[in-house]
Amino acid sequence: MTALLELKNVSRSFGGVKAVRDVSLTLQPGQIVGLIGPNGAGKSTLVNVITGVHPATAGEILHNGEPIQNLKPFQISARGIARTFQVVQPFPSMTVVENVMAGAMFAAGVMSMTEARAVAMEHLTFTGLAAQADRPANQLTLANRKRLELAKSLAMNPHILMLDEVNAGLNTAEINQALDLIRAIAARGISIVIIEHLLKVVTGLCSRIVVLHHGELIADDATADVINDPRVIEAYLGSRFAERQMVRHD
Ligand SMILES: Nc1ncnc2c1ncn2[C@@H]1O[C@H](COP(=O)(O)OP(=O)(O)O)[C@@H](O)[C@H]1O
Ligand SMILES: [Mg+2]
Repeated sequence: MTALLELKNVSRSFGGVKAVRDVSLTLQPGQIVGLIGPNGAGKSTLVNVITGVHPATAGEILHNGEPIQNLKPFQISARGIARTFQVVQPFPSMTVVENVMAGAMFAAGVMSMTEARAVAMEHLTFTGLAAQADRPANQLTLANRKRLELAKSLAMNPHILMLDEVNAGLNTAEINQALDLIRAIAARGISIVIIEHLLKVVTGLCSRIVVLHHGELIADDATADVINDPRVIEAYLGSRFAERQMVRHD
């Protein structure tokens, strides 16, 4: 079966820094994959490479068997590969619904403002933000700005969604709500790659975990196997994971 997404020996350097080194992995339809590793391991860079924000300096990326590593970010998102940013970036002076309309209009090509608003409202209802629709985006709480990121991404009609630390900075109740939302997104058949520091989130959501360390992929396996892998425990989980059971940092 052709993988939904396949990375073959992908690397990305910034000057002398090899942020991602020779990473190969595949994503199959319907999976929720956790992407973990210490700060600076290359997780965000890997998402930036896949989405064309910081193109690969070596290697090949296949989407449904077709190379995409030379495409521009807008071409990659038009193929149904969406992401959220670690640092949320709404259009601050636009309202919440206008932010989502921008994504809907981009995905649909041609769409009237009325149609775009209707589509955007569906995504806001799904993400629990309908009541905030007409507020300026910069007035939202952090938890709601993260929801807005999800609504904007969903408006692009993705079949692959990459979530970069969508739970960072949220409290336990907010995280639990976010997890329900992520599960609901997956239930729509969208494949999810989630970068996440909280082990309970990763183990609760993901059947498979990929671990990066110094830009290298050091594990890619079923969740239970990865979190018990001595290399992973040493490289990443270390004292912080073991002692504090992955209490969030950042
Ligand atoms: N735009 C950039 N310019 C220069 N160096 C970068 C850039 N983005 C990331 N890096 C470097 O690449 C490495 C991996 O960073 P990053 O992908 O952000 O890690 P993670 O998301 O796992 O914390 C770090 O050494 C970081 O400083
Ligand atoms: Mg990061």
